[in-house]
Amino acid sequence: MHIPEEKISEILNTSDIVEIISESVILKNSGRNFFGLCPFHSEKTPSFSVNPGKQIFHCFGCSAGGNVISYVMKYHGITFPEAAKMLAQRYNIVIETKDISPAKREQLNLKENLFRLNKKVMEVYSSQLCTSAQGEAARNYLKNRGTTDDIIQEFGLGFSPDAWECVVNVLKKQKVLRKVAIQSGLVMERKQSKGFYDRFRNRIMFPIFDINMQVAGFGGRVMDDSMPKYMNSPETPVYNKSRILYGLHASKQYCRQLGFVYIVEGYFDFLSLYQHGIKNAVATSGTALTSDHVRLLKGYASKMVLVFDSDAAGIHAAKRSIKTFMQEGVDIRVLVLPEGNDPDSFVVKYGADAFSEKASKAKTVMQFLLQVSIDTHGLSVEGRMKILDEMKEHLMLIHDGALRSLYVKELSETLNIDEKAVLEKVREQVVNQVAKKTFLPGSEKDDKNEKQLESDRREEQVISMMLNYPEIIKEVEKTDTLDYFYSEKLKRIAKKIIMVDSPKDAFVTKVMASMKKDEDQQLIASLAMNDFLCEKEDIHETALSIINRIIRVRTKQENTLTSKIISAEKGCNSELMALLKQKQDQIRQLHDR
Ligand code: GTP
Ligand code: MN
Repeated sequence: MHIPEEKISEILNTSDIVEIISESVILKNSGRNFFGLCPFHSEKTPSFSVNPGKQIFHCFGCSAGGNVISYVMKYHGITFPEAAKMLAQRYNIVIETKDISPAKREQLNLKENLFRLNKKVMEVYSSQLCTSAQGEAARNYLKNRGTTDDIIQEFGLGFSPDAWECVVNVLKKQKVLRKVAIQSGLVMERKQSKGFYDRFRNRIMFPIFDINMQVAGFGGRVMDDSMPKYMNSPETPVYNKSRILYGLHASKQYCRQLGFVYIVEGYFDFLSLYQHGIKNAVATSGTALTSDHVRLLKGYASKMVLVFDSDAAGIHAAKRSIKTFMQEGVDIRVLVLPEGNDPDSFVVKYGADAFSEKASKAKTVMQFLLQVSIDTHGLSVEGRMKILDEMKEHLMLIHDGALRSLYVKELSETLNIDEKAVLEKVREQVVNQVAKKTFLPGSEKDDKNEKQLESDRREEQVISMMLNYPEIIKEVEKTDTLDYFYSEKLKRIAKKIIMVDSPKDAFVTKVMASMKKDEDQQLIASLAMNDFLCEKEDIHETALSIINRIIRVRTKQENTLTSKIISAEKGCNSELMALLKQKQDQIRQLHDR
């Protein structure tokens, strides 16, 4: 889809980057910037900053950066036109869509059709539950479990009748295309004959909403002991299991307010808690927690409490998830309920206060893992060695050194093993891990030579000043500074900046909009944000001194080499000459990379 430039400008001028990012990241105001935890890498202290004046974001940790459109693209993993369209919709900006490529349009249409179809089917299931004769058993089932009508309404619960073609008939009536029908996951193709049959039959139905309140898929539970107990929609173009958590569409505001979220396993666990007033929860509904899930949640709450059944499966699931959380640097606690309880049965039996009380005593991850390990191996000498072996694996995942040493201390006390010995074990593990890593090809940064880093820094500084104090630009032009840049990339970017014509207060916004490549946007964001690179006192003087230095360094180096080449030529030392020329080329190449 081609979106005209003026529409892009309109979108950029209308949208508010702080407002948009606030929907997914908790931002705190600090001076001219807002800060929060970066949604693009794992961190514990906020290095993700948003500048409302310049309408840009930049992460000092992972150097992600750009404007509001690049944020939406990156966050939702969508393309530029999709992001622009999303923002346009939100700010009521109309974009003509006649220029969409046929393939793209088909994809967009498919998604829209699937959402519409899911919504229709949700309504059908819902009326089956509330009014049909067959729905009686389902109504009773929910009543017996204590689910209120309010919850049934708010979460659109329904009933899929015991029939092969209930949804199939809906599809027929709606004249849904065969292709859409297959992709919806609601029906399956018959193997023996032509046609389709319903995936969900004779089940309590839970619509699964995405964060924008659209129905992405369904889960369904049988009402007796038959298997499988639950069935879920497959992945579809609108249902990405690693990005959707059950209940988040309703709980997100409460997670924000309270600053933490309970992560439970089941649909009923979520609904029961919600019904009892514990509304800051989500359910994983049987899928493994992914780092996408955790990053998604981080936008709503900085603390998380994993709630698991105390059975072996629950503990196994908890252990599996913990790794994901630790790698994402999230403050996580683990709440194991008393034997034989899940959050649903617990809150029904003992009430919300008892649940919150238990939750306030939830164990830290290390305490939890240690307990599990002790329960498994016992505290004999052999057992303790096994425990130590297990725990060192977990300990090395903690990046925060102070926190790690606290746990080492706790572990050494519990096991009655010398702290130094424990530390030694952990260190061994870390060293092993690091050794593995360093054999991988080095990163580009490591290869850069020091001189080049210095020149890059000076050149970046100039660009940073051009962005923050556009009046410097005429100085740059006057002295032809860019001709003396070593870095071709920085030169290219600086040239682009010079071309931008805009009043001072919207300069960075305009520059950002003129950059098409993601890496260029990131660089601009970082340089515009790094305005502390510039000494505030006398901008003009500082700029001139950096510019002079750039020109001097390059001229000097060229001169030294050139004069050596000239004298080598004079002395007919062709060998030396070739060597020097080679050197000159090498230097140029090095800086042109
Ligand atoms: P209730 O018995 O209704 O209270 O369910 P529960 O949530 O307590 O069940 P359980 O702890 O067994 O499962 C937790 C979650 O895992 C469920 O809510 C489902 O999302 C998922 N799940 C459980 N059993 C199955 C299954 O057989 N198939 C699939 N696909 N998912 C399941
Ligand atoms: Mn249950």
